[in-house]
Amino acid sequence: MSHQNEPVRVPWARPYFGPKETEWVLRTLNSQWLSQGENVKVLEDRLAGLTASPYVVAVNSGTAALDIALKLFAVGPGDEILVPAFAYIASVNCILYQGATPVFVDVDPQTYCLSVEAVKEKITSRTRGIIAIDYAGQAAPWAELRQLGREHNLFLIEDAAPALGGSYRGQALGTLGNVGITSFHTAKIFTTVEGGMLFMSDAKLAERACLIRSHGESPTEKYLHVELGHNYRMTDLHAAIGLAQFSRYEQVLQDRRQAAEYYSRHLQALPDVVPPAVLPGNQHAWFLYPILVQKRDEVRAWLTRAGIGTNISWPYPVYRQPYLQQFFKEPCPVSERLCQQVLCLPMYYGMTQAEQDLVIQALSQALEPIKEH
Ligand SMILES: Cc1ncc(COP(=O)(O)O)c(C=O)c1O
Repeated sequence: MSHQNEPVRVPWARPYFGPKETEWVLRTLNSQWLSQGENVKVLEDRLAGLTASPYVVAVNSGTAALDIALKLFAVGPGDEILVPAFAYIASVNCILYQGATPVFVDVDPQTYCLSVEAVKEKITSRTRGIIAIDYAGQAAPWAELRQLGREHNLFLIEDAAPALGGSYRGQALGTLGNVGITSFHTAKIFTTVEGGMLFMSDAKLAERACLIRSHGESPTEKYLHVELGHNYRMTDLHAAIGLAQFSRYEQVLQDRRQAAEYYSRHLQALPDVVPPAVLPGNQHAWFLYPILVQKRDEVRAWLTRAGIGTNISWPYPVYRQPYLQQFFKEPCPVSERLCQQVLCLPMYYGMTQAEQDLVIQALSQALEPIKEH
């Protein structure tokens, strides 16, 4: 194989925007109402239906949704919030926005979601809540986390940013905690370009989430502000894209499931690859297809040269980020290993078998010379 990089033949993610998106966007532009309005309301109703969540609040990013979620529980200085060490940075930043203390917890070696045993070890009298990520689209151990939440009087925030469309024992991901969130960033399974959503079953919390989303403005009197809020509103133009995306909800999920099954079937022939495990009771949403490989960076470089895009979610345990050093207590060995070995293979709606074959073939070629080093 040449040492020149091939042009990207298979990207790691590829958002799909079709004629429906164009139609919705044009219709919205022509309606002259572009800021938060009817489309956002319809999108919220659609998501409430899809997830069976009683209250759904759309915002302009998953990060904004996390910030609101923590504000709903009046988190502040002195409070400790447990969060996986193997996490996206936004899952930690939302804790810092409140002036609270993130406590990093190791993850499970099979699902890469929070380890229940590790959570138990980190609970103190200052612990107020837990943020659990449904990694790659698979549920965190919700039954056990809920049990711990009850025993220790902790709130649970479900970070289902990557997991909309998955389920846990028949219940939609996003609805397992006291408050759940998801992200509609461009790379996600369903996108509004940027955007996010909150899910909850408590009417009072939902009311406050709406207040915080829009500068704490009273729902009944314009320019009367009853609490400190933000501009976290989603626009109708972004919601228009979301409505088009959700018109093919089942199809997209099924497509990703099939792609994941195809990978898993064919990667069996590669003993150096650890494919993702799906636990009983979990319907995986397959935002990512994360494998583990030794010498990951060499494998990745090889794939890049072959025109195969990959993603590393994530390369550092969050406590290794330069500005989070002050919160570092002790290394989390599973998270450390995952950050060294995880490699997310291309996965998107409309991916062809021929494209998957290119990935599998390039991966098997990449592993050959690396083994000999
Ligand atoms: C686990 C997790 N939480 C939160 C977010 C933040 O979402 P957003 O990019 O929409 O702000 C992301 C984004 O990728 C994520 O992966």
